[in-house]
Amino acid sequence: MDNKWRNAFGGVARIWHALGRDALWVSDPQAINYILGKGGYAFEKTPERRATALLLGDEGIDGADGATHRRQRRVMEPAFTVPVVKAFSPTFVQYAESLCLQWTDLIDGSPGGSSVVNIADDLNCAMVDTVCDAAFDYHTGCLQNADNQLGKSYMNLMSAFGSRPSSARIVFDYFTEYLTPRFVAALYRNLPVKGFAKLRHNRAVAYTIAGELLEQRLTGNLPGTAQLGLMDVFARATVSPDANSRMSRSEMTSQMRIIMFAGSETMTNTLTFALLELARHPEYQHRLRAEIRAAGKDGRARGAGGIALTDVEAMPFLQAFIKEVIRFHPVAPYLYRRPMENDVLPLSTPITSRSGKVIREVPFLRVFVLYSPFQDSTG
Ligand code: HEM
Repeated sequence: MDNKWRNAFGGVARIWHALGRDALWVSDPQAINYILGKGGYAFEKTPERRATALLLGDEGIDGADGATHRRQRRVMEPAFTVPVVKAFSPTFVQYAESLCLQWTDLIDGSPGGSSVVNIADDLNCAMVDTVCDAAFDYHTGCLQNADNQLGKSYMNLMSAFGSRPSSARIVFDYFTEYLTPRFVAALYRNLPVKGFAKLRHNRAVAYTIAGELLEQRLTGNLPGTAQLGLMDVFARATVSPDANSRMSRSEMTSQMRIIMFAGSETMTNTLTFALLELARHPEYQHRLRAEIRAAGKDGRARGAGGIALTDVEAMPFLQAFIKEVIRFHPVAPYLYRRPMENDVLPLSTPITSRSGKVIREVPFLRVFVLYSPFQDSTG
């Protein structure tokens, strides 16, 4: 659909959203760059976007805007620096190897050496395990089929409530603009809507575990200012004397819940589509294997014992493949934002209006849908 619109209207079009609401559909790269780059907080999340964030992460960063978002982001930033994230690569490799071993065993043990594998579910298990371990030092054991309530509560969470919203749900989300966030939260927590029971269960379990983990950190010795893990950062922030770098306990548990979701769901979907594309394009498999084998050979020749993270970053075909998968299969194809003030969107490619006028900038004042500029293969 987006490609059809792009071909018909160019990079920006006025559309009618739910209940005939005026909106702007944007896929022009310069316009998107302007929205994302402009002073950070010049565009806020729309009420529907905040309603979804509320369901998944209550007071967490995903639903926050303005000063609250700035404070939460500042507090969490030390745990998301490039060196900190890179330091987790052995954890990522460990779970990737476990999953590959499971698949190899399954295939080797099957008659004829072939077996049906549920890639999406298995990756979901591996990603929940990886994110909970790397971010919170908590072991869900999903890959080992452990009976862990937290791990189970994250399995297929998005598809349970959000991937195909009913018309009633879309209309309800629309009306959240006219309700207070507290009231919306209370409704979401109590309405008998399909899929919400799984969300409520996930919330209860995630908050119990997050509370326990936080308590453990607070009662242990908090480390000094050396490299900090996310739990240490959180624990320090709850007791910070400075209001600008403090987070309440409920904000903290909300962050943990949303990070577990945002980390595992995105990675599961992206990797599932990556493997699907590889299955569709054996020629890409051959190129990737050749590149990976060459890097392994170089690593061994250097005495590094295999492929290091720097080698992965230096593999041109692998890097291009990952970027293309994210472009073709974005986990969040539509990002919802609206300007805080009336504004003018610059366009990289001018559009011609019905009256024949060439438009290089679009003035706008309403809510709009910001669209990721990917090209699907059907366009
Ligand atoms: C393939 C991997 C990923 C993709 C494609 C992805 C994509 C995105 C996108 C598009 C947003 C913006 C949503 C919006 O503003 O409406 C976002 C936000 C966010 N993501 Fe990811 N993400 C990925 C992995 C992760 C991981 C691994 C984590 C954590 C462990 C994570 C945590 C978050 C958080 C906390 C936010 C909210 C940030 C904020 O509001 O400042 N994501 N992600």
